[in-house]
Amino acid sequence: VSYVFEESESGDLRFVGDFDGLYRAEADPWGQSGDGGELASYYRLSRDRLSEAVGRLYTGGKLKGIEIGCGHGFALQRLAEAVGGHWSGMDIAPSAVMRARLLHPNLTFYAGSITGPLPMPPSSVGYFDVAILSQLLWYVIDKIDEAVLNAARLTKVGGLVIVSQAFLKGEQRYGADIADGFRGTLALFLARFPALELIEARYDDGNEHAHHDGLMIFRKTRHAQ
Ligand SMILES: C[S@@+](CC[C@H](N)C(=O)[O-])C[C@H]1O[C@@H](n2cnc3c(N)ncnc32)[C@H](O)[C@@H]1O
Repeated sequence: VSYVFEESESGDLRFVGDFDGLYRAEADPWGQSGDGGELASYYRLSRDRLSEAVGRLYTGGKLKGIEIGCGHGFALQRLAEAVGGHWSGMDIAPSAVMRARLLHPNLTFYAGSITGPLPMPPSSVGYFDVAILSQLLWYVIDKIDEAVLNAARLTKVGGLVIVSQAFLKGEQRYGADIADGFRGTLALFLARFPALELIEARYDDGNEHAHHDGLMIFRKTRHAQ
């Protein structure tokens, strides 16, 4: 069964997007716990870079952050430990959210899609200091405007909107027509979201981990669209 992408006979990838099915079928999708497996060292690198950047760039009071596409909440837990403050997560897969609540009772979780009407209380609009799209890009690329504008909506003016994303070392077989690699993704954001000002872009293309890692940090300069 293909839960996320399905390969056609011609070798093209078609997006399936049955994330709840995936979480019901597998204990640790993508090895996201970082507990062993071939991606463990990549997750460490990526989550350390993300936590370091948030800790360095956020200089306000007690931080309120949200991760969109949080899965079982392991990246969130790392952020909460490294940076402090209060962290929330949202994910399209109710099964992932249920498990995340059990694993991290100190964090708050919402179930819903970032590309639809926000499944969060109205008070969450403009509430967060930091909103992170973490390892989510390819699953929302067809609705990137909705996803990013929703993330920005949750963020206060002056707050940070961050993309933390793995990029394949080899050929990108999906979404390259919209965002080709790290450079293409950055170009897309700069062209489409003028209310988001780029403050940092870093790409780690070292060979020692399973993936390359991209980090893009924007400041929300005004309410938009
Ligand atoms: C590769 S996992 C990353 C999990 C976590 N961010 C991490 O880094 O460990 C991608 C997650 O995005 C979620 N997702 C996919 N489409 C989504 C959408 N439209 N809205 C919210 N979450 C979504 C999936 O259910 C999955 O848990």
